[in-house]
Amino acid sequence: MAKIVNIAQMREHFPALNQKVNNRDLIYFDNGATAQKPQSVIELINDMNSGTNGNIHRAVHELSARCTDLYESARLAVKEFINAESTDEIIFTSGTTASVNLVANSFTSRFISKGDAVLICEADHHSNIVPWQMACKRAGAELRVLPVDQNGEWILDKLDSLIDSKLKIVSVAHISNVLGIKNPVQEIIERAHRFGARVLLDGAQGVVHGKVDVKDLNCDFYAFSGHKLYGPTGTGVLYGKREVLEEMEPWMGGGDMVDSVTLAKTTFAPLPLKFEAGTPNFIGVAALGEAINFVNRVDIDFMTAHEERLTSSLNKELEEIEGLTLFGKSKQKLPIFSFNVEGVHHTDLAMLLDKMGVAVRSGMMCCEPLMTRFGVTGMIRASLLPYNTIEETELFTKSLRKAINMLR
Ligand SMILES: Cc1ncc(COP(=O)(O)O)c(C=O)c1O
Repeated sequence: MAKIVNIAQMREHFPALNQKVNNRDLIYFDNGATAQKPQSVIELINDMNSGTNGNIHRAVHELSARCTDLYESARLAVKEFINAESTDEIIFTSGTTASVNLVANSFTSRFISKGDAVLICEADHHSNIVPWQMACKRAGAELRVLPVDQNGEWILDKLDSLIDSKLKIVSVAHISNVLGIKNPVQEIIERAHRFGARVLLDGAQGVVHGKVDVKDLNCDFYAFSGHKLYGPTGTGVLYGKREVLEEMEPWMGGGDMVDSVTLAKTTFAPLPLKFEAGTPNFIGVAALGEAINFVNRVDIDFMTAHEERLTSSLNKELEEIEGLTLFGKSKQKLPIFSFNVEGVHHTDLAMLLDKMGVAVRSGMMCCEPLMTRFGVTGMIRASLLPYNTIEETELFTKSLRKAINMLR
């Protein structure tokens, strides 16, 4: 199929972008929360719900076989998309949160004991903080936290005191969902590995804004959600290196993840099924496979150049607004902008923007410790994808200026 090489071609795949909200043409700048879906994904979901529906891996009938095929093809698509070694290393979950929880449970019970340590970052999403707080509490382990500077960038000098032989795993975001900063993950991975610690990257935002190669990164786990990558909600991926996954016990038991069950004892299915208990969201996963096929059609040079244009356009526009504080000024920035405006509450601003047809996020963005770090109760976030346009960034700032004037 032909590559998507420009913005017009990109937008024509997304019916949701072509709608009026509050009687205005929609400007959808809440992509960090969830992305809109391309037509091919919508059609696959509709087709499956209207006919191609049979529970996977279990029955001999045709509908089950077709769904199994779509499900396992999606696994192959994910494996190739992130350059994993094998489909056995791709586990389907319900999202990034579920993927992190899987590791926080299974890895911890196997590898973390009293007195060991886990490292997270102050700028992380709650779904990479809370599961580790819970896991450390259960294991009697210490939760260490990498701080960020006034720009939201990792204070790498602190790593010397945070990484030692007690550390068993580092779990951090690849790209911050608030600041849009691409973190220097390679450095933390190398340093953690020197001490024998594993590294999980929360790729909820990372997988969306450029090529992810897990072999190249040499991370031990990579977690992401389908719905931020043009796929459906309730789908996610946990990539794990085979050698670690083999050693981990499943944390959920049920159908499909077993080899043999007696009332006295159960043996588990081989990877990846041992971590996929119960009926998975097979229609969603098939649609995630289709979303990845879609992303593969988007020319990477177009995507990178267009995201750079969007980032520099919005950066320039926002910097010109008086009283606006932009968080996360970094050279490694993707089109995710969080800010506050003096004298105006973030929620009021977001509500007024909504009346103008502009969808943005406001509040803590599931990053309360980061808000505390910056001494704020919340922020406004505009997060863009390569289907957004330069005209939208201009219209957005025009609406923003108008809203600020109305509220001041
Ligand atoms: C960086 C990051 N991590 C984790 C999550 C949680 O993703 P989900 O709610 O899809 O599980 C998000 C969602 O906003 C995110 O941006």
